[in-house]
Amino acid sequence: MIYLDNAATTLHKPDVVIDAVVKAMKTQGNASRGAHGATLSASRVVYDARVKIAKFFNFDKPSNVIFTCNSTEALNIAINGIIKAGDKVVSTDTEHNSVLRPLYHLQKTKNIDLQFVKADGKGVLSLDDFERIVDKDTKVVVVNHASNLTGNVNDIKSIGEIAHKNGAIFIVDGSQSAGTMKVDVKDLGIDVYCFTGHKGLFGPQGTGGLLVKDGIEIDAWKRGGSGVKTYSEDQPLEYPTRLEAGTLNSHGIAGLSAAIDFIDEIGVDKIEGKEKELTEYFYNKAKEINGVKIYGDFSKQHAAIVSLNVKDYDSGEVSDALSNDYGIATRPGAHCAPRLHIDLGTKYQGAVRFSFSYFTTYEELDAAIKALKEIAS
Ligand SMILES: Cc1ncc(COP(=O)(O)O)c(C=O)c1O
Repeated sequence: MIYLDNAATTLHKPDVVIDAVVKAMKTQGNASRGAHGATLSASRVVYDARVKIAKFFNFDKPSNVIFTCNSTEALNIAINGIIKAGDKVVSTDTEHNSVLRPLYHLQKTKNIDLQFVKADGKGVLSLDDFERIVDKDTKVVVVNHASNLTGNVNDIKSIGEIAHKNGAIFIVDGSQSAGTMKVDVKDLGIDVYCFTGHKGLFGPQGTGGLLVKDGIEIDAWKRGGSGVKTYSEDQPLEYPTRLEAGTLNSHGIAGLSAAIDFIDEIGVDKIEGKEKELTEYFYNKAKEINGVKIYGDFSKQHAAIVSLNVKDYDSGEVSDALSNDYGIATRPGAHCAPRLHIDLGTKYQGAVRFSFSYFTTYEELDAAIKALKEIAS
């Protein structure tokens, strides 16, 4: 199979990641529960992973690296734990349902004032719109770093500046940026960065987390065993324990930790550079095919994603043909991004998303282009 669905999850994981999970499953006890060899081994792996992840994103507080099972969970924790009844929240039309649905729920249950920055015909957000909509009443601004539909990378630094000059907390959905581009949370001015482990970071599914800047208060969302302060009736207040009740996925975290080492060894800049070349190569060939329409703005920094349609064909049928007739895996439909599909005029057709990784080859891209040409003709 030619796997071009890396924005959904990376299928080809480095061997060191698989080996680390297997080793962890054979050796790790329950992290932070006691002091025998097996529990200490798990605790060390988890602690080490917090330190590595903090360094990877240039974040200076490893204890505020909170582990979750994916970015959906991280985003729900941040959104539900920060936003209070009646707060004004600004988000965008380019968001994934893991941002939209928690916000809609708060709109219905807590009457929040929810406003969206619209995307233009290329899926681009305008900073002028942020300037216009974000004001001193805004409690939270929540935006994705890169769109999982168009691959457009948002100007996070400038959006963060607009949020901060109005006193708002800035939450970033880093699902499509973590591991695929350099992310310096300090330089970008991010207050809460949510990431998933199984996409660009090459970690196992069931891993992810959030980085919570010192001073940002997020309410506990679950309560239970923590291995500390057992006689307290309340969930301990300090991070990470406040947000991590219950046994951690230390086996997955071991894999994620090895994945960060793998990326660090190559260099995230090199990974980003290779993915950029692959994306440009595919984009330049696909845009020449008669009847192919591509979505997104390829004149700026871009994630390794090219979404397109062939004539007026249903995106599901094209994706099925690619899979059944050519053995090429892509993602059709709505990509959990309903507002952006509406803005792009693709609510009913959807789009066929091709997404690449460091392990994608030019031969695979050539095969995909040849298949697209045949389908289009
Ligand atoms: C932009 C964006 N946000 C959030 C998510 C949710 O990620 P996960 O399913 O790992 O929680 C995705 C995954 O497709 C995504 O692309």
